[in-house]
Amino acid sequence: MGSQFAGAKISVVLLTGLVALATLVNCNTEELLRFFSNGGSFFSSSSSSSSVHWPSAVATLVSCNTEGDILYAQRQAWKDPFNVLQSWDPTLVNPCTWFHVTCNNNNSVVRVDLGLAGLSGPLIPQLGGLSYLQYLELYGNELNGSIPAALGNLSSLVSLDLQGNLLTGVIPDSLGAISNLRNLRLYGNNLTGTIPQSLGSLTSLVKLELQKNSLSGTIPASLGNIKTLELLRLNKNSLTGTVPMEVLSLVLVGNLTELNVAGNNLDGTVGSTGWRVTTIIQDNLKTSG
Ligand SMILES: *[C@@H]1O[C@H](CO)[C@@H](O)[C@H](O)[C@H]1NC(C)=O
Ligand SMILES: *[C@@H]1O[C@H](CO)[C@@H](O)[C@H](O)[C@H]1NC(C)=O
Ligand SMILES: *[C@@H]1O[C@H](CO)[C@@H](O)[C@H](O)[C@H]1NC(C)=O
Ligand SMILES: *[C@@H]1O[C@H](CO)[C@@H](O)[C@H](O)[C@H]1NC(C)=O
Ligand SMILES: *[C@@H]1O[C@H](CO)[C@@H](O)[C@H](O)[C@H]1NC(C)=O
Repeated sequence: MGSQFAGAKISVVLLTGLVALATLVNCNTEELLRFFSNGGSFFSSSSSSSSVHWPSAVATLVSCNTEGDILYAQRQAWKDPFNVLQSWDPTLVNPCTWFHVTCNNNNSVVRVDLGLAGLSGPLIPQLGGLSYLQYLELYGNELNGSIPAALGNLSSLVSLDLQGNLLTGVIPDSLGAISNLRNLRLYGNNLTGTIPQSLGSLTSLVKLELQKNSLSGTIPASLGNIKTLELLRLNKNSLTGTVPMEVLSLVLVGNLTELNVAGNNLDGTVGSTGWRVTTIIQDNLKTSG
């Protein structure tokens, strides 16, 4: 009885130390509670002090499951009629065993693959905290609300595919900061506002698909900076003005093989029955003479 009391006392000391450590490494209290309810070793037996395994205790706390917390918060914000997110269990040490989530060797989330999953609801801004995310594939769902500006913080992102949802609002300027982006597919939503000039900074972009939205304004000449671009689809919006020469020149000096601007309100055209050329589809260019 006396020894149990002594064990508890030691546990309290350790607990205080762990709280301090948790504060240092920026863990939230939920993590701590999870740690204690999982491990339980501190309070479970009379020989508690000997069952404390310090290295693993510290490792658990230092690796705090923030990516799991973000994804779990997203799960809670969505309706999931087909239970595709059933395996997203927040009590696991990280989300790496969850279906539709892929991690790298460091247990950081690099892919979220949830195309055609029947999900509805908003994209939460916290997703911008998935620092190692390379693929965010959420096409063909019923996601609504706007694209969070915080997605511009996903600096590792290679592919952002949100096509075929019910998204509204503008394309955030911040997406122009995702310098590794190769595919940006936002088509088939109801996005409004203009095409951000900032997208011209995406100098790794290969496919830019913004067709079938309600985008207005002119086509930014800055898109002509994207020499890597192979596919540029802007058809079926409400764009005005002309196709900038900088963009047209990508057909000659860049790798652009398809440029589709049909079905807008561009100068000299009358929508889908217009006489002017609105689609340029070119074969691959010969790479040598
Ligand atoms: C894993 O983390 C180490 C140390 O931070 C880093 O050097 C390494 O590049 C990371 N590996 C991956 C696949 O991210
Ligand atoms: C998204 O859809 C849900 C369900 O239809 C609705 O309650 C909610 O208001 C919608 N949100 C936005 C921002 O349109
Ligand atoms: C993420 O992006 C938002 C909006 O672009 C910005 O305000 C915020 O400071 C960024 N950083 C973090 C860590 O969220
Ligand atoms: C798209 O959004 C605009 C502006 O909010 C609205 O007027 C229009 O009806 C919407 N179109 C569709 C197909 O939902
Ligand atoms: C164009 O494509 C070729 C073949 O894929 C590639 O080697 C080259 O780097 C590309 N050019 C640019 C500017 O991306």
